[in-house]
Amino acid sequence: DWQMGSYIDEAVAKIREQVGDEEVILGLSGGVDSSVAAALIHRAIGDQLTCVFVDHGLLRLNEGDAVMEMFEGKLHAHVVRVDASELFLKELAGVTDPEQKRKIIGRLFVDVFKAEAEKLKAGDRGHKGAKWLAQGTIYPDVVESGGTKTKKATTIKSHHNVGGLPEQLGLKLLEPLRELFKDEVRALGVALGLPAEMVYRHPFPGPGLGVRILGEVKKEYADLLRRADAIFIEELRGWKDEATGKSWYELTSQAFTVFLPVKSVGVMGDGRTYDYVVALRAVQTSDFMTADWAELPYGLLKKVSGRIINEVRGINRVTYDVSSKPPATIEWE
Ligand code: XMP
Repeated sequence: DWQMGSYIDEAVAKIREQVGDEEVILGLSGGVDSSVAAALIHRAIGDQLTCVFVDHGLLRLNEGDAVMEMFEGKLHAHVVRVDASELFLKELAGVTDPEQKRKIIGRLFVDVFKAEAEKLKAGDRGHKGAKWLAQGTIYPDVVESGGTKTKKATTIKSHHNVGGLPEQLGLKLLEPLRELFKDEVRALGVALGLPAEMVYRHPFPGPGLGVRILGEVKKEYADLLRRADAIFIEELRGWKDEATGKSWYELTSQAFTVFLPVKSVGVMGDGRTYDYVVALRAVQTSDFMTADWAELPYGLLKKVSGRIINEVRGINRVTYDVSSKPPATIEWE
């Protein structure tokens, strides 16, 4: 039987043996894999680890602060938070093509991370300079990049590719989750003291809200989207299905809000409004290659719509996406 306590002891011993007294850098995104890797490595080597958290300004409401609270506040890990939101917004201004947006975000992300890693490699007061780059690579990633999985002939969406970073930076690679499946990574995270809410989160794409704001990304749009999406997620977490006792957050594989930069007419009190539209998206899937739109209860949709329109001034219409994949994709861009 797979005993988590002894697994942690072994993993910790292995990391200590590999790393010795050298320093390690880890790119922390707030996602499950990098969070669990950070918690495990921190357990093993404490202050020899420095996490670099690049905030591209396209994260969800309070997400950046939550990452800092958890890793710096609770775990007492070293975290360098790089607020690069202005740089990202500047480079994205005027860009509407989804693939071009992904490329810009991916490139800037690597640039900002590398610049920070170079500083840590050089070392400063009290730091000898990092020798290792840790990554939250898990077993399915290893299999995928090994080419075992059949590659599609055409790329529908280019994902972030951070491969090759250790070589470029001249750092040794530390991948303590390489042998684990996703459910094992989650169990490990919980055993290391990470909150279930973080460990059982829906996936979030690397380009973040950048691909959930259709067309040009603007700060105004991101701010409206963050508030609307927070309401949707809060209600999904709170709305229990009677038959299973599970929340609709648990009953869906991925759920989020999409910002549509079009205006429609509405009425509020005695006045006319002319404001933006959002779409709610919720899907059920086992592999994210195909997905069904989730049959959310009407009561839940009604509550979410009412709250968004009343609480988020600037949005006056909420729609629900009833497209399955294929032919639609899960994200709108
Ligand atoms: P689609 O939209 O292709 O999404 O049906 C399938 C899954 O992949 C995620 N996704 C991304 N993840 N970078 C990522 O890291 C990306 O550019 C990206 N695009 C889509 C999406 O959230 C879903 O889970």
